[in-house]
Amino acid sequence: MANSGQKVVLITGCSSGIGLRIAVTLAKDEKKRYHVIATMRDLKKKDKLVEAAGDAYGKTLMLLPLDVCSDESVKQCINNVKERHIDILINNAGVGLLGPVESISIEEMKRVFETNFFGVVRMIKEVMPDMKKRRSGHIIVMSSVMGLQGVVFNDVYTASKFAMEGFCESMAVQLMKFNIRLSMIEPGPVHTEFETKMMEDVAKMEYPGVDADTVRYFKDVYLPSSIDIFEAMGQTPEDIAKCTKKVIESSSPRFRNLTNSLYTPIVALKYADETGGLSVNTFYNLLFNFGPLMHITMSILKCLTCSCLRRRTISPN
Ligand SMILES: NC(=O)c1ccc[n+]([C@@H]2O[C@H](COP(=O)([O-])OP(=O)(O)OC[C@H]3O[C@@H](n4cnc5c(N)ncnc54)[C@H](OP(=O)(O)O)[C@@H]3O)[C@@H](O)[C@H]2O)c1
Repeated sequence: MANSGQKVVLITGCSSGIGLRIAVTLAKDEKKRYHVIATMRDLKKKDKLVEAAGDAYGKTLMLLPLDVCSDESVKQCINNVKERHIDILINNAGVGLLGPVESISIEEMKRVFETNFFGVVRMIKEVMPDMKKRRSGHIIVMSSVMGLQGVVFNDVYTASKFAMEGFCESMAVQLMKFNIRLSMIEPGPVHTEFETKMMEDVAKMEYPGVDADTVRYFKDVYLPSSIDIFEAMGQTPEDIAKCTKKVIESSSPRFRNLTNSLYTPIVALKYADETGGLSVNTFYNLLFNFGPLMHITMSILKCLTCSCLRRRTISPN
């Protein structure tokens, strides 16, 4: 149970990756400022979290089951929180989807939206009325750089994160009137099971209904570049957890929080040309014309963002 003065933080999707690391980072806060309710849809997966939490488990960290795709599960979980009092809601649960659109069923696409978009909406709808009554609260949403910039062959995942960005951008204004903050965390690639799960799915893919050229672009052009990008630019779940803690602890938390300064110029392209041509053409050239030079491009990006643009991101340190 939370002590007086402790903030109650509820986090979705804590069985692995970023959610697990945020839960542990907050639960191990030196000043014990947080009472963490780490949730996951299947409590049989709790071992990794419990081990990482160590002594904090049972003290500043407790577990509850929660499936963000189920109205009943969400309601039951929030009803199990003392007085339904949540100071900080961290919407982290999410799933990926990669591949040519022709080979992905509408059912699979709906599953992504059900988790990444409606899962967040469901959580906010359940928690927001109590926050409004108390005139306080902070809602954090784990978005992505792909919530700001489309990425080839990630069409549906990107769309789900864009949808959430639009929802939150609209909600933030109303919530401000009730003294409730809303912040988006926008990581680039992060080394978690997310990446592993997507690559496993890709390995099983059969590409029904996809023409040979598209399959070749996906397998021989996109996938190697994507692996390069993860290797050159990937952050750790610890990096994202530290950034998230900074956002929570800021006296005036920002709405948008890119975690990786290497992505600042990529996102800036979009706003530099309102016709959209600059970003579409740049991505086209990066993928199809300069694929073999991707490593060099990465190095240039690293130089470009080494100092002046870094201010626009939340540094994990
Ligand atoms: N990794 C990246 O490169 C990256 C980059 C930008 C943004 N993100 C975002 O970061 C968030 C966390 O991803 P991650 O990288 O940490 O991946 P991860 O290790 O695969 O973790 C995803 C978590 O979401 C949970 N989850 C999935 N569906 C759920 C549902 N219906 N209800 C409750 N929990 C559910 C998973 O639980 P199960 O174990 O039960 O499946 C897992 O705990 C996602 O929103 C993702 O979009 C990731």
